[in-house]
Amino acid sequence: MSRTALVIGIGAGDPGHVTVGAIDAMRAADALFLLDKPNAGTLTGIRQEIVDRHAPDTPVVLVPDPPRDRSAERGASRPDGAYAANVGAWHDARAAALADALVEHVPEGGNAGFLVWGDPSLYDSTLRVIDRVSATIPLVPKVIPGITSVQALTAAHAILLNRVGEPIHITTGRRLHEDDGRNTVVMLDADCTFRETAHPDDHIYWGAYLGTPDEILLDGPVSEVGDLIARTRAEAREKHGWIMDVYLLRRP
Ligand SMILES: C[S@@+](CC[C@H](N)C(=O)[O-])C[C@H]1O[C@@H](n2cnc3c(N)ncnc32)[C@H](O)[C@@H]1O
Repeated sequence: MSRTALVIGIGAGDPGHVTVGAIDAMRAADALFLLDKPNAGTLTGIRQEIVDRHAPDTPVVLVPDPPRDRSAERGASRPDGAYAANVGAWHDARAAALADALVEHVPEGGNAGFLVWGDPSLYDSTLRVIDRVSATIPLVPKVIPGITSVQALTAAHAILLNRVGEPIHITTGRRLHEDDGRNTVVMLDADCTFRETAHPDDHIYWGAYLGTPDEILLDGPVSEVGDLIARTRAEAREKHGWIMDVYLLRRP
């Protein structure tokens, strides 16, 4: 008999992002599994608070996240074979760790819950890992959508994501060099790559720790606020020990 994997988007940090559907799913789970990264103290804490508030009777199982080999990423501008192999090995290790925890805490026919930051469809590996787990344990995924950090960013700045009739592109800092930057959302950028790619007049809407009490927002032409964003980012990262930020670049 298979188990159900409830893949629950919990929003990007604001407890108000948690939907009624997510709360129902948290309560329906036999256990909620959190892959616990070594430096994710605050992020794990926020997820734990969400569970305490909405599904206090559902047990939480912390699964230590296996280490990831990042050697092939250094200096690489785009994913190559070695990068993909390292990520694949990491997902396999995560799948093995989760499979063990699942068998221990969820009965056959039961529900395993996975709390996913933002929405599971956007730069998140939970669905891929669950696919790998299901190679050893029958597991049927059910996704409960959440508010992404992209939506949290546009809401915080009270702007539209796209301009009238125009496309929008979502990419990573690593791939920003390949983008025309006309209307681009950039995630996972530890290097403020916009400083290398953007035109001086491009407008940047930047947000860090969106939806949390530490939220920081800055916006303006890159020539005016670019250095300020880089400085603010470095100082905030130093102060909190971690940072998550996202930005939209828009060419006038
Ligand atoms: C691994 S991705 C996960 C994205 C997530 N699934 C979502 O729907 O937003 C992590 C990236 O999302 C962005 N991010 C997530 N939460 C954020 C927040 N609260 N504030 C700013 N950026 C955030 C950052 O660009 C971060 O590097």
